[in-house]
Parts: sequence; structure tokens; C-alpha cells
Amino acid sequence: MKTADIRSTFLDFFRAKGHTIVPSASLVPASDPTLLFTNSGMVPFKNVFLGSEKLPYVRAADVQRCLRAGGKHNDLDAVGYTARHHTFFEMLGNWSFGDYFKREAIAWAWELLTGVFKLPAEKLWVTVYHTDDEAYDIWHRQVGVPAERIVRIGDNKGAPFASDNFWQMADTGPCGPCTEIFYDHGADVAGGPPGSPDEDGDRYIEIWNLVFMQFDRAPDGTLSPLPAPCVDTGMGLERLAAVLQHVHSNYEIDLFQHLIKVAAELTGTKDLANQSLRVIADHIRACSFLIVDGVLPSNEGRGYVLRRIIRRALRHGWMLGVRGDFFWKMVQPLVEEMGAAYPELAAKQAFVEDALRTEEQRFGETLEHGMRLFDEVAGKLTGKTIAGVDAFRLYDTYGFPVDLTADIARERGLAVDMAGFEQAMKEQRERARAAGKFEARGQMPAELASQLAPTVFLGYEALAATGAKVLGIVRDGRQVGQLVEGEQGFVILDRTPFYAESGGQVGDTGALSSGNGRFEVADTLKMGGVFFGHAGTWHGAQPLKTGDAVGAQVDATRRQSIVLNHSATHLLHAALRKVLGNHVTQKGSLVAPDRLRFDFAHHKPMSREELAEVEALVNAEVRRNAPAEVRHMAYDDAIAFGAMALFGEKYGDEVRVLKMGEFSTELCGGTHVGRTGDIGLFKIVSEAGVASGVRRIEAVTGAGALAWVADEERRLGELSHLLSSSGDDAIDKLRQLFDKQKKLERELESLRARAAGSATAELAGGAHDVAGIKVVAARLEGLDAKALRDSVDQLKQQLGDCVILLAGAADGRVALIAGVHGRALGRIKAGDVVSHVAKQIDGKGGGRPDMAQGGGVDTPGLATILADLPSWAAGELSA
Ligand code: ALA
Repeated sequence: MKTADIRSTFLDFFRAKGHTIVPSASLVPASDPTLLFTNSGMVPFKNVFLGSEKLPYVRAADVQRCLRAGGKHNDLDAVGYTARHHTFFEMLGNWSFGDYFKREAIAWAWELLTGVFKLPAEKLWVTVYHTDDEAYDIWHRQVGVPAERIVRIGDNKGAPFASDNFWQMADTGPCGPCTEIFYDHGADVAGGPPGSPDEDGDRYIEIWNLVFMQFDRAPDGTLSPLPAPCVDTGMGLERLAAVLQHVHSNYEIDLFQHLIKVAAELTGTKDLANQSLRVIADHIRACSFLIVDGVLPSNEGRGYVLRRIIRRALRHGWMLGVRGDFFWKMVQPLVEEMGAAYPELAAKQAFVEDALRTEEQRFGETLEHGMRLFDEVAGKLTGKTIAGVDAFRLYDTYGFPVDLTADIARERGLAVDMAGFEQAMKEQRERARAAGKFEARGQMPAELASQLAPTVFLGYEALAATGAKVLGIVRDGRQVGQLVEGEQGFVILDRTPFYAESGGQVGDTGALSSGNGRFEVADTLKMGGVFFGHAGTWHGAQPLKTGDAVGAQVDATRRQSIVLNHSATHLLHAALRKVLGNHVTQKGSLVAPDRLRFDFAHHKPMSREELAEVEALVNAEVRRNAPAEVRHMAYDDAIAFGAMALFGEKYGDEVRVLKMGEFSTELCGGTHVGRTGDIGLFKIVSEAGVASGVRRIEAVTGAGALAWVADEERRLGELSHLLSSSGDDAIDKLRQLFDKQKKLERELESLRARAAGSATAELAGGAHDVAGIKVVAARLEGLDAKALRDSVDQLKQQLGDCVILLAGAADGRVALIAGVHGRALGRIKAGDVVSHVAKQIDGKGGGRPDMAQGGGVDTPGLATILADLPSWAAGELSA
């Protein structure tokens, strides 16, 4: 059965069992700062398990794209070397949100595997969590799996609830015991059954994991029950395909065979079993989908993980002998394999190819820089081994693969200290792990979430509210009853005018006050998706308690500045599409009180004319003073209405559409102006590249724009003053000044040349004759190194067989230049002449036999040293 058919058979089976089929979510988890990537099928449903998000259905099934490369689940280093590890994979899953539980989940899994996919029952093994008698009994009594093929697995990972059969998404969040189904690939493959010492072999492969979600794990490791028990299952599509296609390795399935063949052609590799081909085939999936989901290569966070995966693929290409770009050419075959199941991949093919090609070319340059560093390191080597830290520097700074470093080293009879390299790598991994650990900011305890209704947001119309009720207080991820003087925490109200950070717009600040004191709100953010957490500090003689009534007041001036910037962002987006084209899509934005930042897809820097045109278009819309209208409508209607939606954002069924005149229509939950004229003035202050194919504009509006203009004016005023101009003719005056300066420089240059010429003539006249070789040693004032070199050249021409040393003094330092010419060559080295003088004046020098330079400190003794030089040279020449 083809991989594509397995996807549809799975979904059809669960559709028939009353499940709603949902599309795959993005690899970048929507608004979940605790997680780097979607690492399993349950991630998009996290808040549903926790009870803070409600869906219109209680059963769902999907095929979810997943990535395990960074963070808690990281398989990157194993990829290519086992039959079944991937960075990117697809997970088939079915879900119960408080509906069915263990009995149905197990029975259906068995029915699908043995009844529909027709796997022989005797090839299947199962594991259960050691205390889960219920699951054991269902397998044994209801399904009829013999006891010898059911394995109980305890806490085999060194802590309570740390087990292969206790699943958790991340360090915090939903978790629970699980039961896993294994397939026995037969005695000719090495490996033992689950729970045995040889379980890591490739014979018994886990194909399906059924998790019984029951708990929410807090940052301190304690478990609290979820509002309702749920089911989360995950079956690796590639593993199942291997079983159904009667092959042993995932890389032998139809999908991978195609990719591997193309990789072999592109890299000129004959041996299709070469592990590097597998790495490339795996990595093109991870890289392409990451880019589809909005990640671009960079040096931090998700972008850094992407860059590492790309470079790992390129390194394997290099090992196969590729010396040009090739990786981006894998996108087309990938689209052929997966474009039908993931239309977003097909739609963005050109963008993905471009991003990969740019990164490959950059790595090409890197290789060059790396070679230079390698030469430098090798040049300074005293022994024959390149230090581990140097190999690591090459790897880390230049992306220079260590085996490549080792190869080049070998060619030159050198070795690399691999142990030292590994040590440096280990330290780096620890740093990366620390960086990947996102702060669990605004963690919402599940028990609290299950009790509360979502916060009502009043802030579209109002900036203040009275009699709002404190429903919950959260401190360090746990619910607390109160806050005392000076304590910080998150306060959740039943309703609030405070906007919680989302869609790029920053959270509001302000204060919550009651008769007992004042809670200074420093930020507002969403907790558990639907609750507004006011983050701040309590000041009051009496504590702030759950149940208290408070008045809420948003900092109105700050909010107004944010509002202007947010509306201007929409106008900017529309103007960019008009001026540059419809390929311009939003890649990120920040709407703060003092400025707005807008990142968008575009391939080259904007010209000055383009920027001026965009600015003019936005300001024309501002002056048109059109009303900003908000409508609520179904998502599909909104798109039909022409609204721009951001790819990768999660939208509900009903969406909010903001329309400003005929110019801009966008889905947006943010706060906006009443009429575009409120923006006052829009000024772009910078345009720059942030990643390949992504540009960033920063701009200011309203009072901020006026302040910016005033500042520019002040600078222009100062400039005019310095130029003694009225302002209008400042540019002309500057131009005249530059012309004048150029003329003066030219005059100075020719005067210097003339002065040097007459100085050298004089020096040549006073040269000492040492057995037919002319020796000159002199001090020249005010000549720089270049002028000195010219003088040495002239002297060589004039004197023929000669030894020259010139010392140019300036500011207490002396520059030394030595030249040796004609018959003197081979008898005395210019480097020795410079060193001889330099070491007597606290300096050093060196160079070629015919020309050398150096320097030292200007001392009174220099005159004597120079006077003695002819006799020293006489000694050297006769030696
Ligand atoms: N969430 C479970 C897993 O990823 C099904 O294995």
C-alpha cells in the first residue's frame, strides 16, 4: 500500500467512527512559548486537553507534520544511522476530548491494524505502564493478546513518571500513561522485544502509541488531574508504511525511495544504501516544511535549528563529493511526493527553493572563509595536531564540518584532536539546550482553567472598567489565593479593558485598584489561550484576594500610540503590496508604543524611490481620513470578502475583519483607530534585511513621527550652522567643501612626492660606499609608510647595488623600511636590517629579503644607531 493510501485509509477509518478530520497544523506551535516545534500530533490540541479551549467536536483524527530536532524530543544526530529516526515525520492520530477512553482506543487500534491493514496478530507486541492494570486487562481479556506478548514497563528513566510508557509533550503540560504497539520485523533483524536489554535494535519497532492523557505537569514536576481524561494516539506514518510495504527500514518506503534516487543523481552517488543519501532525503522534508511554516535560517531559536539541519545536509553532500549547490533541487521531487497531501508545500515551492539556495550559496562562501581560518590555524601550529577548540571554532563560526577539517588536515599530514572537539561540542549542546528551553511564561494551571469562563475583553470600546472581579491569581505557575505587598503575579479578571499581547501588538499596561491598594500592570498576556493575565506587582496594606472587585485602568496615552502604530501597520502592508507586488506577505510584526516593525517577504533591498512611494501612499490614506470598520464574519466569508489572512496563524470559525477605506482589509484581533486620519503622520525610519528573502521596515506615527521630524530638523539646523548656511544651500556648500578638499589632497600629494624626491636625491649623495655597495641610513620627518616605501624604491633605482634603511618619525613612533638591491641581495636580508634597528628601539619588524618594514619607539639613541648602521652593514656584507 502506498504511503498516500495509508493516510487516507487511516482517516476514512476514524471518520466512520464519528471523528472530525482536521488538517495538519504548522510546525511552529501557534502561541505556545513553551515549545520549539510541533513534536507530536497532540500539540495543536494542548489547550483542549487543559480545558481552556473548547472545540465543536469531541473526537478528531488527523495526519500531523512533526519535527523532533531541538528541545525535549530531539532525534537529529540519530538520523541516517538507524532504520527509523527522522527529524521530520508524519503522525497519524485520533483524539478523544473527554469522550471515549482506553477501551475504545485500544479496540479500534487493533481493528485498524489487524482488520483493515491485515497485519498478522502474532507479529504485534504491546507494552503498558507498569501500574495500568486496566489497559493490561483490555489487551489480554478483551482483545486476546497472549500474556507473553504484553510487557509492563515501569519508570525506566530514573524518576517517578519518567518512563517509555508515560508520555509527556514537554517539561510542562498534559501527560499520562500510555500503551504502545510494536511490530516484530522477524528474526533476521537484530534486536530484542521492548523492555529487554536489546530493545534498541531494529527488530521490534514501535508503530503506535496510545496515550491516556490524565494529568497536567507543573514546572516543579507535580501532576494535577486534567478536567477530563482524554485520548491522544500517534502512529508513525513512515514506520507503518515500512511494515505494510514489507520493507524493514523507513528509508525503503516509496516516498523515501524517490527522494533517495534524486539525491543519488544530484550527488553522483552510485550506492543507493549510502547513509548520507538518507540524511539528505530526511532533511529536505524538515527544511522545506520549516520554511513553509515561516521559519528562515538564522542564528537563534528555530532559525538556528533550521540552519543546522540545512548544513548537516550540505555536509553530507560534501562528503559525497558535491562542490556546488544541489540541496534546493530536492524541493521539486518532494513536492511530487507530498504536495497533494500538503497543498501549502506546493504553493510555496519557489519560495522554499529560493531560501534554500541562498543558504547554500552562503555556506559556499563560508567554506572559503573557513579555509582561510584553517590556513591560519595550521600556520601557527607547533605540533602536528589541530586543537579541539580550533576545530570547533571552524565548525561553529564557519559551519565547517569536523570530518572536512579532518580530511584537509590529513592531506597536510596533520591530525585533529577529536576528543577536544567533542568536549567543545558537548558544551555547545548544553548551551543550545538552555537556549531552547523557553520560559513557561504565563503558564495557566489546568485546574484553574477548567473552572473559569474565558475572559471578556472590553478594550475595543473602553480603556477603563469598574467592578471587575478577580477570578484567579497565579504565581510561579500555581494558583494562589492572594498577593501581599510587593508580590508579583498574574491576575485574571472576569472582564478587562487590557489588551493581551497577540498578533504582534504588545500587551497593555496600567493599574487595577481597589480600596486595599493598587496592582501595577507591567504587561498583559494570554494564558491558556483565552484568559487575560495581568502581569504586575501588588502594593497595598491589605492583600489582593481572589473574589475582590477592582477598577481597571489602561495607560491611555500608551495605548493610543499603540493603536496608531497598529493601524499604520495595516496601511503599510497594503502599500507594500501595491508598490512591490503581491508576493509581499507578512513574516512578523511588532506593534509597540514608540514604533512599529514590519517584516515581509521580498528579495532585495527597497530603493529610495520605492520607500518614498510607500510612505506617500500611506500618508495619502491617512489624509483621506477613511473610517476603520470592524465586521465579524465566518472565516471563509472573510477570505471571499478579500481579507488578508496570515498563514500559520490560528483563526477561529468567526473572525474579526478590519477594513480601512478601500485600501486595506485584514483579519485582525488588535485595537485600531476610529479613522485613518488619527494616525496623523507616517514616517519610515529604516529598511533592512533580517534573513534571506525577508526585509524589515521600522516606522513611526503620530506624535512619534513629529518628534522624529523635529529631531531631523534639529540635526539639519546644526549642520547648516556649522556650514554657515541658511539651510537651503547647505548641500551646495557641502559639495563645494568636498571639491575643495579633494583639490587640496591632490596638491598635498604632489608636494609630498616632490619633497620625497629631493630628500632621496640628497640621501643618495650622502651614501656610504662599502666595497662597492652603497649604504644609506636616514631619518625622515613626517613621511608615512607609503611615502617611505616610495623613497626606498627611488633610492634603489638611483643607487643600484645598495642597502637602505629609512626611519620615518611621527608622534613618538618610528616607522622603519629597509630595502636591499642588486649585488647586495643574498648577502644581507632587508628583514635583518629592520630587526637590527627595531630591536634597539623596543620594536620589531620583518618581511621579504628585498623589502621589509617594522617600527619602534622614537628615542634619542636612534641617531647613533643610524650613524652606526653602515659599519654594521659592512660587517654583515663581508661575513
Ligand atoms: N503523543 C504521543 C506520541 O507522540 C501519541 O507518541
